[in-house]
Amino acid sequence: MSEREYRTVKASQTVLKELMVPSYANFGGKVHGGVILSLMDKIAYTCAASHVKGYCVTASVDSVNFLNPVEVGELLTLSASVNYVGNSSLEIGIKVISEDFRLGIVKHTNTSYFTMVAMDEDTRAPIPVPGLILEDEREIKRFIEGRIRKQLKTSHRAEMKKIRRNLDLMTEIKSLDGEHCRLYKA
Ligand SMILES: CC(C)(COP(=O)(O)OP(=O)(O)OC[C@H]1O[C@@H](n2cnc3c(N)ncnc32)[C@H](O)[C@@H]1OP(=O)(O)O)[C@@H](O)C(=O)NCCC(=O)NCCS
Repeated sequence: MSEREYRTVKASQTVLKELMVPSYANFGGKVHGGVILSLMDKIAYTCAASHVKGYCVTASVDSVNFLNPVEVGELLTLSASVNYVGNSSLEIGIKVISEDFRLGIVKHTNTSYFTMVAMDEDTRAPIPVPGLILEDEREIKRFIEGRIRKQLKTSHRAEMKKIRRNLDLMTEIKSLDGEHCRLYKA
């Protein structure tokens, strides 16, 4: 991109609907969490690539909390929007709902945030993404929250790296008393 372009949030908003068929079920008869995660990754890519108009990879996925089980026969609807863009990364917000037609029940399954990074397909290096045109208060709020999440994730990664580097196993082992584990003794 020679001059930085700007695109609206609406231009890349994406909706994906999928019927939950019996082959998606686990042994308990509910839909596998992994099926839903795979659909979330698919819509995150579609939404990010539509904004960038190019290739993107999934850099990270925020914690995904399944609020309600999804049953076979329900219709899953995933809605995705670009919340925030950095230099080469984009945060995609995804809302998942499931719908039981027969009972007329709509359930919120989860909301999660995927960070996607735009890549040059030849060099495999991150490249700048188009900016975001924020058209209403909700879009401004989402952008600000996305920026906060990025800052928190960056400091969390740095903090965990420091903790791992300085971890003193002999000291930490003593703190395991009362934890739900047994130490292996040769
Ligand atoms: C994600 C990836 C491109 C980052 O590469 P990198 O060399 O660390 O790139 P940079 O440090 O220049 O960071 C590039 C952007 O990614 C973001 N980023 C990097 N690692 C991240 C992570 N773990 N979580 C969230 N964002 C991340 C940075 O904040 C930066 O954003 P910005 O440009 O908007 O400021 C690289 O780690 C990668 O290719 N990972 C594999 C992705 C993949 O294959 N996914 C599919 C899994 S099957």
